[in-house]
Amino acid sequence: MDSFDIFGRLKNSDIVKNVFCYDNVASTNDIAKEAARNDIKDCCEFEGKECGSLFVAQTQSAGRGRRGRSWVSDAGGGVFMSLLLKPEIKPESVSMLTLVAAVALMRAINGVSGATCKIKWPNDIVLNNRKLSGILTEAAFNEGKTEYVVIGIGINVNIEEFPEDLSKTATSIKRELGVCCDKAEIIASFVHEFSRAYVIFLQTQDMTGLLAEYNEGLVNVDRYVRVLGGVTEAKEGIAVGIDKSGALLVKNNDGNLEHIVAGEVSVRGLYNYV
Ligand code: BTN
Repeated sequence: MDSFDIFGRLKNSDIVKNVFCYDNVASTNDIAKEAARNDIKDCCEFEGKECGSLFVAQTQSAGRGRRGRSWVSDAGGGVFMSLLLKPEIKPESVSMLTLVAAVALMRAINGVSGATCKIKWPNDIVLNNRKLSGILTEAAFNEGKTEYVVIGIGINVNIEEFPEDLSKTATSIKRELGVCCDKAEIIASFVHEFSRAYVIFLQTQDMTGLLAEYNEGLVNVDRYVRVLGGVTEAKEGIAVGIDKSGALLVKNNDGNLEHIVAGEVSVRGLYNYV
């Protein structure tokens, strides 16, 4: 897979105007952040308008996940990519871009593979109760303004086997459907879906216009969830959906609606949680 395999599939209306492919990097998020900091020419501007750049690697030697975890990024079956944007949005809206990306990712994977994967709040993509894809969004702010946003995405596409410690909780398209998928097609489809969703998001800088799509794909809905809140006590209840700010709404055992804005959420029946 090279830049042209991806770029050649993009449409004029898509937000991405530059695609950079590498054999191996430490982390595509780091490469994207470096490009943003060095303000490489045209990385976020095309014909006077905002655009994005996409950084894709065949392997990563130090792939990073959320909460300081690592992301297995060996050769072969995975997609490792980062989308760099310099959006003119409020810093409070930046975390919602992860949810926008989750909607786009779910639609792209389902469209290309025929799977019916879902979103686990806020931004895991799951298939048959195991994790298929994850998103790590990083951003920089200056004087109350958003400088850049990097949306890093790992997708387990054609991976046949997982290390023993991940085998029960992680999966791939190949493992679930028995077929190999074209990675460039998934990437291009993600860019296309993201471009569509991003336009909708920018109208309000929140999830208003994408609420129905996100909640329809949300695996948490009507399921028992436990929210680990760090220092505070774990909260439990039935998830209802998200609100326009991206918070997860959970009806607790007293019948009150809690707005969960952060924290690790376990969903009963998923990833070994019974
Ligand atoms: C998660 O923990 O669920 C997020 C995983 C994000 C992994 C991707 S792979 C491409 C990009 N580069 C990284 O180092 N991490 C993200």
